[in-house]
Amino acid sequence: MERILIVDDEAFIRENLERILTDDGYRTYSAKAGDEAAALLQEEEIDLVLLDLNLGQESGIDLLERLKKIDPKVLVIIITGYATVESAVDALKLGAYDYIKKPFKADAIHLIVRLALETQSLRRDLRRLKRRGGSDPLTGGEMIGASAEISEVFNRCREVAQHDSATVLITGESGTGKELVARAIHALSARNKQPFIEINCASLPYNLLESELFGHEQGAFTDAKTKKIGLLEEGNGGTVFLDEIGEMEINLQVKLLRVLEERKIRRLGGVRNIDIDIRIISSTNRDLKQAIQEKIFRQDLYYRLNVFPITVPPLRERKDDIPRLMQHFLVHFNGEFNKKIQDASKETLELLCHYHWPGNVRELRNVVERICIMHRGNTILPEHLPQEIWGQDHEIAPSFNLDLPPSGIDFDNVILDIERQLIIKAMERTAGNVAKAARLLNMARGTLRYKLDKYAIDSEPSL
Ligand SMILES: Nc1ncnc2c1ncn2[C@@H]1O[C@H](COP(=O)(O)OP(=O)(O)OP(=O)(O)O)[C@@H](O)[C@H]1O
Ligand SMILES: [Mg+2]
Repeated sequence: MERILIVDDEAFIRENLERILTDDGYRTYSAKAGDEAAALLQEEEIDLVLLDLNLGQESGIDLLERLKKIDPKVLVIIITGYATVESAVDALKLGAYDYIKKPFKADAIHLIVRLALETQSLRRDLRRLKRRGGSDPLTGGEMIGASAEISEVFNRCREVAQHDSATVLITGESGTGKELVARAIHALSARNKQPFIEINCASLPYNLLESELFGHEQGAFTDAKTKKIGLLEEGNGGTVFLDEIGEMEINLQVKLLRVLEERKIRRLGGVRNIDIDIRIISSTNRDLKQAIQEKIFRQDLYYRLNVFPITVPPLRERKDDIPRLMQHFLVHFNGEFNKKIQDASKETLELLCHYHWPGNVRELRNVVERICIMHRGNTILPEHLPQEIWGQDHEIAPSFNLDLPPSGIDFDNVILDIERQLIIKAMERTAGNVAKAARLLNMARGTLRYKLDKYAIDSEPSL
């Protein structure tokens, strides 16, 4: 039910509007002055404010500015007497959505309020779509695969989709399609008309991620100039996808655990608990059990998240799908780059199936994209493939001397030493930037930090 706040100093107008709007099925709140209005906006989930510009002593314009500071996204419709049409125009400049003149007819109120709320909901959808990152046309698209391994994943998705709020943990190497799996579960579930909110836990430092997740009240901290609804709250009724959960700071893990246990959240600086009904799907490409041993991931949170585990196998373990996926990407990129490549030669397919695909489906997709950009003709030939695919044998640690002296070695210490040297090399090459070094080593940032600590290697302080 949408909530409307009526701000007018005349009791008669307030009552009149309340009656009209309650009849339409809205929930109404009334305030006769600024402080009261500001407090209501702060405490309640208000969708729309009807604001009288002429509030006796107070200026409606000032109040508009104040309300917009508390919640920049709230819709405000100005009510104005004939004499103040000019200030109504000022109000529009300050972000009011529309204005209506007194005396008004009930019909005009019905219409303007309905249109305003529809606009509001369209804007919300748009924000969600933007957050989904419209740049990748395949994301949110269909998942391809028919191998026994991926069919098992599909079955797991269908099964868990039936369990309305079961928590899912998706694990698998980078590029295997974990995000597509999360979206598929949402799409197959009864929540599919509700929001799907994606949060990347690795992309923000602790305090930003916290307010992003939980939201905050105005003034909760120095930069909290306005109230903000957090993503967990915005996802209410739907699915919240916590990507790269293994990178979440330990302090925030405690708070997330509480959300899972109590199904309530509290905004930063807030006093009220808000009930939330969400399905949480998290995903990670790191080994959480190891992270628990390294004391960078909480065991209790792990158990809460891992109610329904789904493991997406690496591409090299479902090679049957490679030709199918290749064909799928070929059709897509032919369209995008206006090419007409039909298929791949037998030899090419053999090479593709033989390759170990460390970057999984994402890597295959990139390879096909590059070929579609660079080549014409009908068929993909081996020479069109990037060198790593036909130059097979891959060394694991190319720069290390893997001689095994007759006297034998102290295996564990040699391995530790190799690890230490690689980390030092990565830190030197990135001038001590932990995030960049972690990327170079293909290692989770938290793990690298832990290892830097363990080997007492210096690093630049970073986020
Ligand atoms: N089965 C599939 N069918 C079609 N496209 C796929 C499939 N699996 C993955 N992709 C595509 O491969 C790319 C990587 O997938 P996705 O982002 O879901 O991987 P991920 O496991 O979340 O990776 P990361 O751990 O790096 O975030 C995307 O472009 C996605 O659309
Ligand atoms: Mg992902």
